[in-house]
Amino acid sequence: MLVRKALLTDATNVCDLVNSLSTDGTLLKRPFAEVCENIRDFTVALSDGGVFLGCGALHFYGPHLCEVRSIVVRPAAKSKGAGGRLLTALIEEAEEHGIQSICLFTRIPDFFFKFGFRAVEDKAVLPDKIFKDCQSCPRLHRCDEITMVRGRIPSVSLLGPREEAEQLVRISG
Ligand SMILES: CC(C)(COP(=O)(O)OP(=O)(O)OC[C@H]1O[C@@H](n2cnc3c(N)ncnc32)[C@H](O)[C@@H]1OP(=O)(O)O)[C@@H](O)C(=O)NCCC(=O)NCCS
Repeated sequence: MLVRKALLTDATNVCDLVNSLSTDGTLLKRPFAEVCENIRDFTVALSDGGVFLGCGALHFYGPHLCEVRSIVVRPAAKSKGAGGRLLTALIEEAEEHGIQSICLFTRIPDFFFKFGFRAVEDKAVLPDKIFKDCQSCPRLHRCDEITMVRGRIPSVSLLGPREEAEQLVRISG
């Protein structure tokens, strides 16, 4: 298996796989143009024969925080280590950039526990995520995803103040 940074030529595979799980809300929908624009966020896993197995992305908020997004393995390739290899590569990428906090939102926390993530009760500790995605999400008032963090909780935010994020979350609660 090969795990490497994505190229623009991977965008169709990435887009098709991610969006195959967006209708049931497992993953956020990523339009093709958005995948192309952000293709450098993605890492892909390929079989020894070069077949696309899966992908995951690391979104940078700033030096204080990044987020694992769109991590998925093709159904036929599951349980053979590709998901773990992708997640490990994204964690290493964050470390190479000196980012000490990685967040994600998920319904399968057990997978991420294995890689050092822990559940966080209050998503308002991540104002950047609230202002980037949550405030415009139709599920803001009925979010069923678990907030997870690896590393320390960031003490700063760039997209808005924590007090306002807390207000949004409280209203949603
Ligand atoms: C989650 C996903 C990426 C895992 O990929 P995978 O290739 O099957 O995972 P791996 O084979 O690398 O498994 C690594 C470890 O995680 C465990 N694991 C895999 N999927 C798991 C799950 N859903 N829940 C709990 N543990 C899981 C494996 O048992 C393995 O544990 P081990 O090392 O103790 O044996 C894959 O199941 C998937 O694409 N799911 C659908 C998309 C999704 O839900 N993505 C997450 C959105 S936040």
